This record gives sequence, structure tokens and C-alpha cells, in this order.
Amino acid sequence: MSNWLVHGNAVLSGTVSAQGSKNAALPVLAAALLVEEPVTLLNCPVIRDTENMLRILESLGCTVTREGNALIVDSRTADRFVLPTVLSGELRSSIFLLGSVLSRFGEADAPYPGGCEIGNRPIDLHLEGLRCLHAEIEEHGGRIRCKGALSGAVVDLDYPSVGATENIMLAACRAKGQTTIRNAACEPEIVDLQNFLCACGFRVRGAGTPSITVDGISHGHGTTYRIMPDRIAAGTYLVGAAITGGDVTVTGMQPGAVDTLLYKLAACGCDVAQTADSVRVRRTGRARGIAFTETRPYPGFPTDLQPQLFSLLSVSDGTSALIENVFESRFRHAQELRRMGAKNRILDRTAIITGVERLHGAQVTAHDLRGGAALVLAALAAEGDTEILRAERIERGYERMDSVIGRLGGSIARKENSIGKEEKTR
Ligand code: UD1
Repeated sequence: MSNWLVHGNAVLSGTVSAQGSKNAALPVLAAALLVEEPVTLLNCPVIRDTENMLRILESLGCTVTREGNALIVDSRTADRFVLPTVLSGELRSSIFLLGSVLSRFGEADAPYPGGCEIGNRPIDLHLEGLRCLHAEIEEHGGRIRCKGALSGAVVDLDYPSVGATENIMLAACRAKGQTTIRNAACEPEIVDLQNFLCACGFRVRGAGTPSITVDGISHGHGTTYRIMPDRIAAGTYLVGAAITGGDVTVTGMQPGAVDTLLYKLAACGCDVAQTADSVRVRRTGRARGIAFTETRPYPGFPTDLQPQLFSLLSVSDGTSALIENVFESRFRHAQELRRMGAKNRILDRTAIITGVERLHGAQVTAHDLRGGAALVLAALAAEGDTEILRAERIERGYERMDSVIGRLGGSIARKENSIGKEEKTR
């Protein structure tokens, strides 16, 4: 467990480069198992979720070599189809391995996946998709057992689930015949997965649209691939400029992937300027509230940026409404922000936020990854210091957030546990 002490009254200013994308790296790592040759990945973020995924791959027999953000996954040595219980329980994305393990070994045995507590996160669409590809699936004693030689089919998703779309893409790559996924999720990370799969020789097209087609082939080949930049981490630091009245530029990002956020920041009164691969956000004076924002699957406003926008609206002038359509209980940061003096009410999936002039420091808890990041932003803008408990949850997705904030002029002191050493970064 790790607690962070965030110093308030910060004004974030400067330039940082975007980290590699967590949500792109995780399915790409699962895909490495489909390729029985070494795969080199560049720009892979060093975060808890990717570390856990790598440890799961190792437990299946893969050999992993890592040097900073570059790594080689060699799955030639993989020889196990049973996913480890404890590690998989920590990472929801371990579910991606079901499709690739099944495809590679004709058999897969996995526990139910873990991950952030942001609501009931069923995996029915993943399992239905694999059943469509003719897998036999038994759910028994908290485990999922899949068997069978996969063959192509048309899979109609009831909802454009990101994970289910990716899992079915992975399962279909080596299946016999053609698979079409209808009502597929359109997130940029799905395009990145397709780009990786195609670089390995697999035949996938249509990612980024609601219809994805995969023509199965018997095997792929090794490649070197650069993971796309993380739009959510980039967006988080841009909201940091807005909430602290600062001036932050994020380079090496894809501005188009966060255009819904940039639109909201402009509506709040920020100056937003972009080039082909960077965004600068500046704010002087108090931000304005936004009457209405709702989260939607891509290209709608991302649920993964809702908590950060929530923090910004908590100190913006006027009353704002935020509707969370994607996950049913993703407002746990609301009660923590109230401890810091924020005014908000939650009615089912709607948050009504009345902006206050200033938040104040308090002891708060990070209940999930993005909610934790939102608390860091609120704490930077607050009067006084804030202690964030369970901050290790933030490290699931942000690469050394304390150093990045330090480079922008903020300050976060890490305490590894209640009696552990304190390490300050500025
Ligand atoms: C992915 C992202 C996560 C993001 C989310 C939505 C990764 C590693 N994680 O999560 O950061 O917040 O997309 O953009 O890429 N659902 C079902 N049945 C299923 C699967 C999903 O009902 O079988 C529901 C979920 O409960 C949720 C909604 O669909 O309410 C969206 O989930 P999904 O798109 O699958 O998100 P994840 O892939 O888990």
C-alpha cells in the first residue's frame, strides 16, 4: 500500500511527453502469445497493470526481456494454458488472455478477472463471443474453462464492449475461416491492436468502425511495434493545467483521440492549442462550469476522463451535470472530493456539481485508478496538503505520476506504507 502527500496551491506549467498507452499495451501483450516468434514492443508503459500482465505471460512459459519502455516477449517457450489465480485477480485485462490462450493451445483455464471497482463488470459478452467461435465453455468453482478448435463466425455484440471486441479479435486471428464482429467498439486502442496484429501478418480490417473482419491464418510472425500514446494519461495532465490555472503542453500524443475533452476544456474557458502531435492547455481566471456532459463509448466523451473532469467542475463557476453511462458506479471520487469541500450530489448515474471557489486539503482514498488521478488533480489545486490513501491504485495506469507532476512544478511525496520511508519529488 502506498499513500501520497500532495502539496496544494500548485500551478502546473511546462511540457511533458505522453506515456505509452495502458489500454493499447495490455491487449497487444496478450496478442504476443499468438505469435510463436519473439515480438519487440516499444513505448510500453512501466505501470502495475503491464507488469502484472508480463508476470502472467511468464507464468504461462513466455520469456520476457525488458529494458525501460522496450521489451521482448518470446512466446515460443509458452507451454501452459492455466492462468494464475492471484495475478489474474489483480488485472481485469487478464480476460484478454482467454482468447489468445484458447487460440494457441485449444484450451484455456482462467479465474474471473479483477481490476478497478467501478461497478459490476460482467464478462458475458466475452464468453458469448468465444462461444460464437465454437468454443465450449464451462463456468465452475470461480473458474472459466474453454476448449475447442475455433472457427470463424459472425459475432453480434449487444454492446460495443472494448474488451470483448479485443478478445474476439485475438481469438479469431488463428481460427479457421472468417470472423466478423458487428457493433464492435471503435476506440483508438482497438485500431492499435489491429495495427499490431497486421504487423505480425494476421489479416484484420475494419478497426475504428463498428464492423471488424478477421480472416484466420495458421500463424503470425515476429515484429517490432511501437505502442500508441496514452490519451487518458495525456488528458489527465491537460486537465491538470485547467484545474490549477496553469500552462501545460503534452507532446507525442494524438490530439484527435481526446477531441471531446479538448472541446470541454475550451468550453470551461481554457485556451487550447494543438499541433499534429501535441496539445497546449492554458487557463487564466476561474474556469466555467459546463451544463451537461455524458460519457459514451468512443467517439463519445470517455468514461476514463470523467473523474478528472469531475474534479475540474468542482472548482468551476456555476452548476454542472455529469452523466456516467458506461459504468454504473463510477462516482466514488465524489464522496472523497466532498471531504475536500466540494459540493456534489449523486442521483443514480447523474452527478450534479456546484463549483466552489477553492477546495481544501484532507485525507482521501483512491478507490480506483482514474478516480485516484482525479483526487491528485483536486489536491494540487486545493489550499493545503492532501493525503491520498491507496495511491498504488493510481500506479496501475500512470507511469511515475509523481515525477511528471514534479516536472510540471507540483509536488507529491510518496510514503510506501504507514511506517515506510518518505520519498519526495519536486
Ligand atoms: C476498457 C478499458 C477501460 C475503459 C472501458 C470503457 C482496457 C484495458 N480498459 O475496459 O479503461 O474504462 O474500456 O471505455 O482497455 N460489459 C458487459 N459485459 C461484458 C463486457 C462489458 O456488460 O462482457 C459492460 C461493462 O460492465 C461496462 C460496459 O460494458 O458497463 C463497458 O465495458 P467495456 O467496454 O468492456 O470495458 P473494458 O473492456 O472492461
